[in-house]
Amino acid sequence: MPKEPYAEFAYFYDKTIPDKWYLGYYRVIKGLFNNLNPKPRRILELASGTGRMLKLLSKGGYDAEGLDLSKSMLSAARKKGLRVHYGNMLRFKLKKEYDAILCLNYSLNEIKSARDLSKVFQNVKEHLAPDGAFIFDIETTESAGIGNKKVEVSTSESGGLIITFSNVAKGSARKITFDVSDKYSNGKRYHVEIVTRAYPKKEIMQICRKNGLKMRSIKSKYDNLFICINPRSSTAL
Ligand SMILES: C[S@@+](CC[C@H](N)C(=O)[O-])C[C@H]1O[C@@H](n2cnc3c(N)ncnc32)[C@H](O)[C@@H]1O
Repeated sequence: MPKEPYAEFAYFYDKTIPDKWYLGYYRVIKGLFNNLNPKPRRILELASGTGRMLKLLSKGGYDAEGLDLSKSMLSAARKKGLRVHYGNMLRFKLKKEYDAILCLNYSLNEIKSARDLSKVFQNVKEHLAPDGAFIFDIETTESAGIGNKKVEVSTSESGGLIITFSNVAKGSARKITFDVSDKYSNGKRYHVEIVTRAYPKKEIMQICRKNGLKMRSIKSKYDNLFICINPRSSTAL
């Protein structure tokens, strides 16, 4: 297995989620931006992957940059002409402030301990302008239905790839695997495994508060979407 799961995933990642899905999510994010004061212009997306959301943000006129740990995912994003940085969301230093920082598609669940999750929030706080917003989705233990052992397997075909997806949840851990065979490359096969962890909502709220951010409640059709504001003064917390 490759050292990092996304080394091979980058090759077929864009075929696993349709453009329509990202467009719908982009509209939700844009709606949240429009309700912020001031409206964000400088955006950083953590764990930006192949740049699907970043591309929509750039097209929408935002000054958008990404950051990711996988060189292959970054390379796919650069091929789309996007501005992306190599870095770990646990310890990035970009010497710049952003009006909004995003982390989407359950990328935060790839952080395996509450201590490390807190480091991400600390870094986010250091890179957010006053009144800036951290918008993220994260699977919670409540939404994951912890306690039930769940196994899902499905096979689909997209752009010449036959993709078998499996999702095994046990406790707060989840293992997602993709077994892919490429019809057009002599049946070349890929195997990708991603392990994630869900956190109790209460713990996420505590981590947010501990790092000087203020959680706002939002209603959205996208599950587990949160927004935290970097208040101008700590008395606002
Ligand atoms: C499920 S993908 C989501 C990509 C993108 N957000 C999207 O919506 O398409 C998760 C991404 O998180 C990145 N990632 C995982 N851990 C990371 C870390 N500690 N720092 C930066 N990126 C990370 C992976 O390389 C991968 O590109």
